[in-house]
Amino acid sequence: MRTRLSRLAFLRGVLPALVAGSLLVGGLGCKSDSTGAAGGANPAAGGGDGGTIKIGHYASMTGDTATFGIETDEGVKLAIKEINAAGGLLGRQVELETQDDQSKPEEAKTVATKFAADDKIVAVIGEVASTRSIAAAPVFERAGIPMVSPSSTNEKVTQEGEHIFRVCFIDPFQGKVMAKFAAEELKAKKVAILREQSSDYSVGLADVFKAEFEKAGGTIIADASYKTGDTDFRSQLAQAKDADAVYIPGYYTQVGTIARQARQLGIKVPLMGGDGWDSEKLVEGAGGPGKALEDCYFSNHYSKDDKSERTQTFVKAYNAEYNKSPSGLAALGYDAMKIIAEAIKSGNSADREKIKDALAATKNFPGVTGDITIDENRNASKSAVVLQIKGKEFVYTKTVAP
Ligand code: PHE
Repeated sequence: MRTRLSRLAFLRGVLPALVAGSLLVGGLGCKSDSTGAAGGANPAAGGGDGGTIKIGHYASMTGDTATFGIETDEGVKLAIKEINAAGGLLGRQVELETQDDQSKPEEAKTVATKFAADDKIVAVIGEVASTRSIAAAPVFERAGIPMVSPSSTNEKVTQEGEHIFRVCFIDPFQGKVMAKFAAEELKAKKVAILREQSSDYSVGLADVFKAEFEKAGGTIIADASYKTGDTDFRSQLAQAKDADAVYIPGYYTQVGTIARQARQLGIKVPLMGGDGWDSEKLVEGAGGPGKALEDCYFSNHYSKDDKSERTQTFVKAYNAEYNKSPSGLAALGYDAMKIIAEAIKSGNSADREKIKDALAATKNFPGVTGDITIDENRNASKSAVVLQIKGKEFVYTKTVAP
């Protein structure tokens, strides 16, 4: 409602001053870019032809981390459904094109190149995995297409250029959250780390955890690596025998196997991780509810148990749509789409550069994952939650503010 009013006010006040009276009728009628006289870098988006506003989503719909893409896409689609039901943006319906990158960085780049060749695309959502966001971001930066990563947390992602944004916190914060949790809540003195060496996310998070845990007085007794695709982690886990806890900042597929092998080797201590554990397949991969990951902890972006009205409204809508609870990924996908929509409304334009500028100016947007303010590095500073695995559920334990 508020947006409608401000749009009306804009049309009544500013627009007449910008364009000649004869153009005004047409301007109102076709609900074009209000600054349409000047046009935009991409004519299809700014032309006010009454066509759809097209958003791209590049995601791991298949492959190693398929639930990342699938769950995010569900969140994005729910947001678009709500936006369109409320009349769309600038009087136009929103259209989504999702492209599968098969969980591979090279494919993410290929798909980005495809999107860059489509001048109807005004903004892009993606990726989840930092390495894939880092692979694709330079393509969007060069093409001048604003990209909003819902959930890539490695610091480097948004350093790729001024068109690259995210709606989540970053790993220097996330790593500290779990290091403090290990030291203060678990009272761990000796921790072993298992990192995925080709993942920017895993390496970055492991480095932060190590530094912060040592700062808190703890000792890292082992810091072992594995590769994407590895399935045998026993030699690395052997180094963790005397640890009070093991930190595994990896992705759910391998984490499940690592957890099972750790228990087979007699390692009984808590395993800890980051948002990369967030998947409806995590527990299944660890042998099922009550098995290798029971009672373990990971940091994440949001909890479906958050009592705030906006989160609960979202959880209900998501449940009604998909008959399951939304993961953090779904919630962030939803928020990514909503801040793009807000940028199109507040900038009153579907022109790529204008969307970029409006995204950069985002302040206190009420997301379902928390308030989103985009800072000068195009990151969002937000709270993290620590979740505990109980059966199939991820149970909320605490919130940590930045
Ligand atoms: N933060 C992870 C990365 O940067 C991706 C991720 C986010 C995975 C949220 C699961 C949930 O690679």
